[in-house]
Amino acid sequence: MMTNRILACAALSLTLIAGRALAQKPGDAAKGKEVFEQCGVCHNADSDEKKMGPGLKGLYKKAKMANGQKPTDASILALVNKGKGTMPAFADVLSAEEKADLMAYLKTL
Ligand code: HEC
Repeated sequence: MMTNRILACAALSLTLIAGRALAQKPGDAAKGKEVFEQCGVCHNADSDEKKMGPGLKGLYKKAKMANGQKPTDASILALVNKGKGTMPAFADVLSAEEKADLMAYLKTL
């Protein structure tokens, strides 16, 4: 009985440790700015003026994006992963870390 409890306890601790290691660390906006160079061909960062795609200044402060969704990490990440119209999909182009950095940078616009 006692051994079972110890085992259960050990398993729980391992799950917690693994969970923490896998958890996404917060993005780095300075690195995200470099990632954005791939977006800058089509998007202005310093104005909401349209280039190929809409200007992204104040993106997170908008009530809605063109697709009707509220700009959040999840909705923006989904859009960046899938692409839209002439915007390419970045799902396999950027790493999870680069995407987190990118979101952190977009928040500063
Ligand atoms: C080849 C040009 C191109 C590239 C590169 C590109 N985009 Fe886009 N993007 C577009 C176009 C065009 C749209 C508008 C699509 C539509 O609404 O049909 C768009 C839409 C968006 C939107 C929605 C904006 C809104 O207000 O609705 C976001 C956010 C966005 N892009 C972010 C990014 C990010 C971040 C990157 C870099 C990882 C990127 N884009 C790279 C062309 C591009």
